[in-house]
Amino acid sequence: MSRVLSGIQPSGSLHIGNYFGMMKPMIEMQNDHDLFCFIVNYHAMTSLHDGLELRKNTMAAAMDFLALGLDPEKCYFWVQSDVPEVVELSWILSCHTSLGLLERSHSYKDKVARGLIPNTGLYTYPVLMAADILLFNAEIIPVGKDQKQHIEITRDIAERFNNTYGDIFVIPEPLISDDIAVIPGIDGQKMSKSYGNTLEIFEDEKSLKKKVMKIVTDSTPVEDPKDPSQCSLFALYRLFAGASETEQMRERYLKGGTGYGQVKKELLEILIEYFRPYREKRALLENDPAEVYNILEKGAEKTRAAAAVTLDKVRKAVGISYRV
Ligand code: ADP
Ligand code: TRP
Repeated sequence: MSRVLSGIQPSGSLHIGNYFGMMKPMIEMQNDHDLFCFIVNYHAMTSLHDGLELRKNTMAAAMDFLALGLDPEKCYFWVQSDVPEVVELSWILSCHTSLGLLERSHSYKDKVARGLIPNTGLYTYPVLMAADILLFNAEIIPVGKDQKQHIEITRDIAERFNNTYGDIFVIPEPLISDDIAVIPGIDGQKMSKSYGNTLEIFEDEKSLKKKVMKIVTDSTPVEDPKDPSQCSLFALYRLFAGASETEQMRERYLKGGTGYGQVKKELLEILIEYFRPYREKRALLENDPAEVYNILEKGAEKTRAAAAVTLDKVRKAVGISYRV
């Protein structure tokens, strides 16, 4: 069974772009892969400096995953900071990472170009991500296209390290599925926590309704034919509808006579229906934080045992373990 690992930042509430792009595929993989799934709160700290918010988002992300069907018995599921071995490995790796490698990071350059005042953590973000991956000998890393370079940096760090110390790390491969399209937000741009254009997975129905009604469309009149391939509303609808419902909706678009207001209503219904069973589970977890802490504690324990094996090898190889 190949070992798959991916993490998500609790930098805001998780949304349906995160769900279809990352969470759902990960949850499906728990049945036939050796799955490592975690909430990267140290990474979120590079951009979020509000303790209460970080704490709240971390718990919410954990509850989201559990409500959506991630089974902690079938996989490794933990919060990054509960396995502090990763920070030690990150330091060791940073002493083996050239500045030039990090200077080439697009993600860092983009954030700075958008006006973010960078902290050192943002700069060394890819080293911590390399530690996340290499600590567990992960082979396959499902990520969005924007993360491809981070996996290349990880590979680079691992290869250099192995050249110096022998075969310690597994060299990971990114898994970037082209069939998972970029899910549009309510403004038609990529749905993203940082653009304020999300539909949250477990948002309350009233505010969900408001947002769905705001989804940007063109101004084609009700009677006229419409182009489904250019419409965010249709792109969202098809995520929740079955093949035949999607086909019927496509025909209604092409024929004309269906207004965007009507499609929004149907989208809202189908979206609420889709998440209804998960919503019930989510509410149970929300009322039982002790159960969630318990799951995360057990997850951390199991994960720390796996981390210790690699870290021990690394400490010996680099000479930090100095007792012979
Ligand atoms: P955000 O942009 O909301 O901060 P992240 O960059 O933290 O999201 O992405 C977390 C995961 O969710 C990644 O695997 C990413 O590919 C996926 N993801 C995020 N937004 C979308 C989207 N709009 N469409 C598809 N996948 C997405
Ligand atoms: N940087 C990733 C993102 O923003 C999150 C992440 C941190 C991650 N560590 C990871 C993803 C390790 C995969 C593997 O989406």
